[in-house]
Amino acid sequence: MCSHESAETCLPGPPVLSVTAVDKAFFSPRGRVVQALEGVSLAVREREFVCVVGPSGCGKSTLLRILGGLDSPSSGDVLPAGGPGRPAAAVVFQDFGVLPWLTVRTNAAFGLRMAGVGRRAAEASSYPWLERMGLADFADSYPDRLSGGMRQRLALARAFATGSPVLLMDEPLGALDPQTRRLMQEQLLGLWQEERKTVVLVTHSIDEAILLGDRVLVMSARPGRVLDEFSVPFPRPRDLRTVDSAEFGQLRARVWNQLRGQVADAQAPYVADDRVDDVGTGDSR
Ligand SMILES: Nc1ncnc2c1ncn2[C@@H]1O[C@H](COP(=O)(O)OP(=O)(O)OP(=O)(O)O)[C@@H](O)[C@H]1O
Ligand SMILES: [Mg+2]
Repeated sequence: MCSHESAETCLPGPPVLSVTAVDKAFFSPRGRVVQALEGVSLAVREREFVCVVGPSGCGKSTLLRILGGLDSPSSGDVLPAGGPGRPAAAVVFQDFGVLPWLTVRTNAAFGLRMAGVGRRAAEASSYPWLERMGLADFADSYPDRLSGGMRQRLALARAFATGSPVLLMDEPLGALDPQTRRLMQEQLLGLWQEERKTVVLVTHSIDEAILLGDRVLVMSARPGRVLDEFSVPFPRPRDLRTVDSAEFGQLRARVWNQLRGQVADAQAPYVADDRVDDVGTGDSR
């Protein structure tokens, strides 16, 4: 069901991003196969806000990279952002992707520069995003002067500044303290309300997923599969009070009910998985 406040903002058209029956396997440094994704299908429609939750290591970042056309699946079909005649996605990476050797101003303009926009024009159109994110005073500083939260805001400024209609965000608020995170969730809600992007957002927070999303996808422990999908019925515009309603609490409980066993599975030692028994942490990045 559409939770946008007016019907015309819910375009039923074809998906703008999709993966169908996608598998992704990696090789560990010792040559073992790490099956990151298995049979994952997801179709995202224009201006839809889809949130993905799942235990650590279940392939959320991998899925996002595939959707962004930054990685390819081992098998399955993909309609990625940035195909021929289709706009590239703006990506907020899990580690923010802030470049330490560039000033805040140049970092904010970086996405546009990569899209071929000249330096002056890129900086002129990204600067208002620095203002919006409360970073204008730091425009000529380097990122080492920024707190973790400010770096995250810089990554968001860079992504929004590209003007891309598709935003892929990997735990964009993950490093914030709980109070700042709440405020940033509200800010993201407002930004989405104004900008109406197509968004896929990965988060470990069920509340965040329900507050922001039209749909919440729950992924299984590795190999990541789509275990369940919940549509979020709360009308927009939403604000932080949405979280306090009884209906919100019920949906939170349903999502957690699906997720809790997966989180437990993901914490089982890797030696229990005979496919990756000598991969160490299983994370070769
Ligand atoms: N480039 C790579 N080479 C080898 N293995 C990889 C690579 N990228 C990811 N993996 C493995 O694939 C699995 C899924 O990784 P991914 O980063 O997608 O998980 P995630 O769900 O984003 O985890 P987290 O919540 O901790 O960020 C992990 O076991 C990881 O070690
Ligand atoms: Mg990740």
